[in-house]
Amino acid sequence: MSRSLDKSSPIARRRFLQPFAGTALAPPPIWLMRQAGRYLPEYRETRAKAGGFLDLCYTPALAAEVTLQPIRRYGFDAAILFADILLVPDALGQSVRFVEGEGPLLDPIRTAADIARLSPDATRPKFGLVFETVQRLRQDLPDETALIGFCGAPWTVATYMIEGRGSKDQAAARLFAYRDPDGFQRLTDMLVEVSIEYLSGQVQAGADALQIFDTWAGSLPDDQFEQWVIDPTRRIVEAMHERHPGVPVVGFPRGAQGSALWYVTETGVDGIGCDTATPPYMMAEAFEDEKVVVQGNLDPLLLVAGGDALKARVEEILELMDGKAFIFNLGHGIVPETPPEHVADLVRYVREGSAA
Ligand code: CP3
Repeated sequence: MSRSLDKSSPIARRRFLQPFAGTALAPPPIWLMRQAGRYLPEYRETRAKAGGFLDLCYTPALAAEVTLQPIRRYGFDAAILFADILLVPDALGQSVRFVEGEGPLLDPIRTAADIARLSPDATRPKFGLVFETVQRLRQDLPDETALIGFCGAPWTVATYMIEGRGSKDQAAARLFAYRDPDGFQRLTDMLVEVSIEYLSGQVQAGADALQIFDTWAGSLPDDQFEQWVIDPTRRIVEAMHERHPGVPVVGFPRGAQGSALWYVTETGVDGIGCDTATPPYMMAEAFEDEKVVVQGNLDPLLLVAGGDALKARVEEILELMDGKAFIFNLGHGIVPETPPEHVADLVRYVREGSAA
């Protein structure tokens, strides 16, 4: 993973990037999944101004503003572009609605004809708005703050496209893949191609690193995991490494458990996002031979609870990951109930280290 760095590389100025060059930092860099969001009053205010959630995502000035809000408050080492994994199906023409209290709703894909109606050639106008947000951010962010671009992994995005909404077990997508593997392959191939262009555009606009969110990676048996999680992710990672050498790609195969190491070796990701259930001793040991950066994995609910238990767990993670190429994060996204002052406590605990 460690690669030679050209002199113009921002690595020296941005701590977030240093673990990817093989440097273990103490304290480790920190950012949090969903660090921009409803737990922040300033986010709720900007979102109300935007109208709907998608309007917020597609208005570069406002999307950049909400990306910057948690950086101003907490000085995280990285900002993550404010957007959503479901902008990809939206840009493909499968209109997405976000309904308060219900989450995302899409007209579900039921047949091969529904897949054929999607249009990868039509994505540019909407993607262009996201790229504009990235450009603004690279100008407005502090120079020491890395900017992470992202997309959803094809499998996870496909689960929403086929189910038409979030679901407990992703049954509709899993059944579609069993009953019509060729159709599901066509959808996956389309998502691979479109995601490559989408991520590539984000890098060209100024993203320093990329994350691929595979929230529902844990719902598949091994043969399906290989076909629908590993293979498409490997194709995206290979394309990024070829087009943008030196831009690290982090995979987040949530729930992959015993398959996480397999995922790392087969996809070629530069970093592995560990979910809440991954024991810290595994984070410290399982990936050691792969020279991959490990990111994770505090329980988002412990951040809601706060107090001594939060501090103790942070210290435990820091101790186990000491001396490793590690980035501190949660094991899943911040939840809306999180008191903003607990996030400030967390950042202080991480930055002050176990001596605090
Ligand atoms: O700060 C950040 O992390 C950057 C922005 C970001 C959002 N979504 C904003 C968002 C990112 C990286 C995502 C990723 C995302 N979106 C994932 C993968 C990560 C994960 O959490 O598992 C998934 C599965 C989605 C799809 C999605 N978007 C759902 C299921 C929902 C509804 C549930 C919810 O939390 O409300 C969303 C909406 C969404 N995306 C919100 C935010 C801030 C809340 C929308 C609001 O303001 O009402």
